[in-house]
Amino acid sequence: MNTYAENLFDENDKISLGHLFVEGQVDTRHGPILYMEDVSVSFDGFKALNKLSLYIDAGELRCLIGPNGAGKTTLMDVITGKTRPDTGSVFFGQTIDLLQMDEPAIAQAGICRKFQKPSVFDALTVFENLELALKADKRTWPTLFFRLTGEQRDRINHILETVGLSALQQARAGILSHGQKQWLEIGMLLMQEPKVMLVDEPIAGMTHQEIERTAELLVSLQGQQSIVVVEHDMEFVRSIARKVTVLHEGSVLTEGTMDEVQNDPRVIQVYLGG
Ligand SMILES: Nc1ncnc2c1ncn2[C@@H]1O[C@H](COP(=O)(O)OP(=O)(O)OP(=O)(O)O)[C@@H](O)[C@H]1O
Ligand SMILES: [Mg+2]
Repeated sequence: MNTYAENLFDENDKISLGHLFVEGQVDTRHGPILYMEDVSVSFDGFKALNKLSLYIDAGELRCLIGPNGAGKTTLMDVITGKTRPDTGSVFFGQTIDLLQMDEPAIAQAGICRKFQKPSVFDALTVFENLELALKADKRTWPTLFFRLTGEQRDRINHILETVGLSALQQARAGILSHGQKQWLEIGMLLMQEPKVMLVDEPIAGMTHQEIERTAELLVSLQGQQSIVVVEHDMEFVRSIARKVTVLHEGSVLTEGTMDEVQNDPRVIQVYLGG
């Protein structure tokens, strides 16, 4: 007997049910693509986030800074559904309540996260890694004999160019430098056409040149998707920053340009540990 889902769609429908209510429907007409209001998270009574409110516009590149333990990673955990807040609301566009969704559904809706440790497949080529990311895309109906269409091949080539790995597309990912692996992973995330990309400490362990290239890459990606970057390296933040949000003790201390926040006495105070 057919399930309800099977009755709704036959296998020619190249969509999955989980994605249906979200596809193309992130409503940003009246404001931000992502908003968190009054969000609190406590761990054994300790408030990792304390009535935090944050608004991210569609296409913007936002930097998030703050001393160790300020709550930056916890904030990303809340957005991606890994951690449930005690109170507050978290919305994707105007209408999608992220607190009603689990981690896979949130990823599916178009919010993806780049972890510090790259998780590329060393034994596969750069191209194959991107191909795999494409197959992981739930919008493509899984088929046993998957063959790339011309359009998909174009998309992979476009991403290769974006992340600067075209010349290495046939190389095994295992031989890539640390920085190149990070870019490949960013490319794998881009294959899923995310609307929001969260990046936690992207330049840790990179060479100076790789850091510069990463800055260029992140700057070039804004506009097509919103990017939230957490980073401690102030020189790097300055090189990419438009708007900077400073977190302290689980709340937003201040927001502004890099110059504004760096000259803010309260920011100087928390960084000096006063
Ligand atoms: N699962 C957890 N259980 C208990 N405490 C936690 C947990 N996760 C985070 N914390 C605590 O919450 C606070 C905020 O942590 P978080 O990792 O969000 O900070 P951060 O701003 O990312 O810091 P860093 O810059 O060091 O990465 C810290 O005091 C941390 O010890
Ligand atoms: Mg952190």
